Amino acid sequence: MERTALYEGKAKIIYEGPDADTLVQYFKDDATAFNAQKKDVISGKGLLNNLISEHIMGALAKAGITTHFIRRLNAREQLIRRLDIVPVEVVVRNVAAGSICPRLGLTEGADLPSTLVEFCLKDDALGDPIIAKEHILTFGWASAAEFDRIVAETHRINKLLQDLFATIDIRLIDFKLEFGRASDGSVILADEISPDNCRLWQVGSDEKMDKDRFRRDLGGLTEAYAEIARRLGIDLPEDISSGSAEHTT
Ligand code: TMP
Repeated sequence: MERTALYEGKAKIIYEGPDADTLVQYFKDDATAFNAQKKDVISGKGLLNNLISEHIMGALAKAGITTHFIRRLNAREQLIRRLDIVPVEVVVRNVAAGSICPRLGLTEGADLPSTLVEFCLKDDALGDPIIAKEHILTFGWASAAEFDRIVAETHRINKLLQDLFATIDIRLIDFKLEFGRASDGSVILADEISPDNCRLWQVGSDEKMDKDRFRRDLGGLTEAYAEIARRLGIDLPEDISSGSAEHTT
């Protein structure tokens, strides 16, 4: 059956769901960085992110976080709640890495005085510019109550994810969240949580186990993602777990 794609992002496609309150989230193998100036296709990445995000969203739900995730449908798709997405990317930083280093003159790996929550406007054409709370309220991207709820929920999620990754010997350096409004008006966690939108470093060596392997041409991306999945206790298909799936086009 032909399905209607409602939205195509850089790594996912959103299709109409089986009913008015649901959507289908499809994980592509496409990898992009630096606002899609760098692009490739990494076989197996979508499948790994689907499984890892399912696992993490499930763990968060068990801990009392409401998310859009309903259930995984197949290797590449999950059923999610239809939300009105808040057009703000919420970036959480526990350790300095990535774009904050050149922006503020910090050294990668430096501790931050405390957890930093930053906001970017979700707008690829503008390059997802960094914004402040005042922009969010002034332009009405979220109400003051929604903003407070997003920040409080973000700190709770950060604590839960830090603890989860610590159990598999991984430091959670930073990550990005998105939120959306459900039909009852509540604001809940959306999007995905995977090594595509987290920085994950091996405890001890600080080896990168996330999309920085692609951003920085380090190679071994699917091996790193598969290792994260394995440590989380996720069963992987044979061709992925043997690491034979990765190739670039
Ligand atoms: P940054 O250092 O490039 O600003 O990224 C911070 C974190 O947010 C990092 O874990 C990657 C994630 N992120 C996304 O998931 N999507 C994005 O578009 C950007 C810019 C960052």
